[in-house]
Amino acid sequence: MRKLKCLLLILSLFMPLTQTLGQASTSRDDVSKRAAALLAKMTLDEKIGQLNQLFFLSMLMQPEMLEPGIREGKIGSLLFVTDPATINRFQKVAVEQSRLKIPLLFGFDVIHGFRTVFPVPLAMASSWDPALVERAQTIAAREARAAGIRWTFAPMVDIARDPRWGRIVEGAGEDPYLGAKMSAAQVRGFQGSDPSAPGRLLACMKHFAGYGAADGGRDYDSAYLSDSQLYNVYFPPFKAAVDAGVGCTMSAYMNLNDVPATGNVFLLQDVLRKDWGFKGFVVSDADSVGNLVTHGFAADKADAAVRALTAGVDMEMSLPRSPVGSAYSDSLAQLVKEGRVTTAQIDNAVRRILEAKFKLGLFENPYVDVSAVASHHNTPEHRQLARVAAQRSAVLLRNEGNLLPLVKGDAKVSSVAVIGPLGDSKRDMRGPWTLADDRRTSVSVLEGIREKVGPGVKVDYAQGVDMDRVYPSIFALFGGPRPAPWSEAQKLAEFEKAVALARSSDLVVLVLGEYEEMSGEAASHSTIELAGRQRELLEAVAAVGKPAVLVLINGRPLDISWAVNRVPAILEAWHPGSEGGNAIADLIWGDATPGGKLPVTWPRSSGQIPIYYAHNLTQQPESAPEFKSRYWDMPTSPLYPFGYGLSYTTFAYSNLRVSKAEAKLGESVEVSVDVENTGRRAGEEVAQLYIHQRSGSASRPVHELKGFERIALAPGEKKTVRFTLGKPELTYWSSAVKGWVQEAATFDVWAGGDSTAALTTTFRVVR
Ligand code: NOJ
Repeated sequence: MRKLKCLLLILSLFMPLTQTLGQASTSRDDVSKRAAALLAKMTLDEKIGQLNQLFFLSMLMQPEMLEPGIREGKIGSLLFVTDPATINRFQKVAVEQSRLKIPLLFGFDVIHGFRTVFPVPLAMASSWDPALVERAQTIAAREARAAGIRWTFAPMVDIARDPRWGRIVEGAGEDPYLGAKMSAAQVRGFQGSDPSAPGRLLACMKHFAGYGAADGGRDYDSAYLSDSQLYNVYFPPFKAAVDAGVGCTMSAYMNLNDVPATGNVFLLQDVLRKDWGFKGFVVSDADSVGNLVTHGFAADKADAAVRALTAGVDMEMSLPRSPVGSAYSDSLAQLVKEGRVTTAQIDNAVRRILEAKFKLGLFENPYVDVSAVASHHNTPEHRQLARVAAQRSAVLLRNEGNLLPLVKGDAKVSSVAVIGPLGDSKRDMRGPWTLADDRRTSVSVLEGIREKVGPGVKVDYAQGVDMDRVYPSIFALFGGPRPAPWSEAQKLAEFEKAVALARSSDLVVLVLGEYEEMSGEAASHSTIELAGRQRELLEAVAAVGKPAVLVLINGRPLDISWAVNRVPAILEAWHPGSEGGNAIADLIWGDATPGGKLPVTWPRSSGQIPIYYAHNLTQQPESAPEFKSRYWDMPTSPLYPFGYGLSYTTFAYSNLRVSKAEAKLGESVEVSVDVENTGRRAGEEVAQLYIHQRSGSASRPVHELKGFERIALAPGEKKTVRFTLGKPELTYWSSAVKGWVQEAATFDVWAGGDSTAALTTTFRVVR
């Protein structure tokens, strides 16, 4: 044994370490050389095959349908294969039976967990805890990688300022600064320092770019964004992912300023490659190449292939039996013959994909170890992190008279009524991107509460109302069908049962919100009102007058204006993941303290949309103050501001100071503030720093987040939080000069617990 070790040591002196371990050498040089050498051996058809990615949906398709194409080298990548044995089966055909033995790259939407489901991304952003986000995605990567998946279509980093848009749930909310931190954390979590290392995945930022600004919040609709909005608001999370080393970019579905993102040279060449130096590959969204025709952009499918490839889309993702077919596979060979596409263009795209495959070590380790898969899934460690993540992402919106936390064993609470359509749902704990977990393993609110209070407390459930909404049928393939809608008689009886249960219980926990498929892709709503008869149920149950906690399970801010004056405690749990029910019970009974903050401005009603905190202040004459941006029928302020969230304790901010009153252009200013826990419980606070540039070549938003830190404070403890305002924080993209500027100006600075922070000071930047 000793001798063997010595031998290995000597060998390792002569070889790169990775090779001694039987792994791939993934150095950039090596990878480029190997890709170039392989490229030189490929036929045109084999090259086009590498650009072709197809869905495999096991409920609709048989492996035999794809195997001939893999054998002939016509398929480079598959998505949606989550069964390790099927992955090996396809891979065997690719690496043992195709001419060049190029492995397939298996991709999947690992968005917020794989078998263990973490809170939805909007919830994870509410934690304001990038380290937690990184850990959660590390675990998601580990679970997916164990099943043979090598590439995730995440992070989704689209800024969203319209909660009608169902995909707001998939991102980090409205703010570029918070969004950038969450974006980079996710890339680190998925890829680590080397996406080929065990337990890691290749990450793919999406949807490039501007997808979250869909007209009217309708998914896929056009986005019209000025350069100022793009550079200052919509691009920063993408740029942060590139800086963190993201390996892939997915082009978006919609058109940006009339040019579809999938054929958009400005986005894919000028910004992504030239300005940001992105070195990875670009994949289209599903069928977005063929849909360049639908956009009225490309003349036909062949033209679509030319336009997408020329713009910089390397790989085409195609739906099974897509009516548009695969534009690349169907057209590229002919297009080369006609001279409409050059071999060099195809080679560039293929090279990038081969480089990714070499970088991932796929040639050395194409298979997955089927026997080890289960041991990596749903482990106690993963479940524990999912529980902590759900605790840390919940936002306490209201806690009148300190109703919460409840005290375990309190004699006044001998019966609890859990009421509402989400109260006993395992499925809806998870959220829209959960296609690979076993939903029976998630914990409902009812189960979590029963477990928490034990057999001594009577816990009963009444659903009260049903919600019969129709969503794309594809969701039924994964989530299963919803129960049939109730009859009129059943509706009446269930409603009355719920109210009666409230009446006979000491405490009511109302669990309202959305089914998991009510947000996410293709799930836009015209209003943010509570769906179905939930509002009626809320009113009837509140009228009973029992102490009540409203728990929200949802993927977007909802209209809860009625509840905020009538229900004493409101806890926003979002879709909290597999351990949601346990985490909610932990929070209600004080085994965890809420510390999450809103990553979005919460509107009072749909009529206020879009509403976001970082807006400009425009016309507001001193002599006629009513002539300002406002509605007459409702306050202009939101229901809850961006950054808002309560704790079971209180915090005070003081002593906000800047390191210098005057800084030269390019110099940094240090800002510090003291935060004290002024209550009687330990708690965590997210200290936030906002700035405003008072004058310049363009107007700047009234507040902009430029720093935050989540800190833990014992009762009475005080900590100093420090921030740096350097060039990156003080620079912006000015439409007046069409470029990045840092300007001499006076800056206001605020620090506090949300975007309405009052503690303020100033400094000047001078030439
Ligand atoms: C379409 C979605 O827009 C995208 O986010 C997803 O990654 C792909 N389908 C693959 O599922």
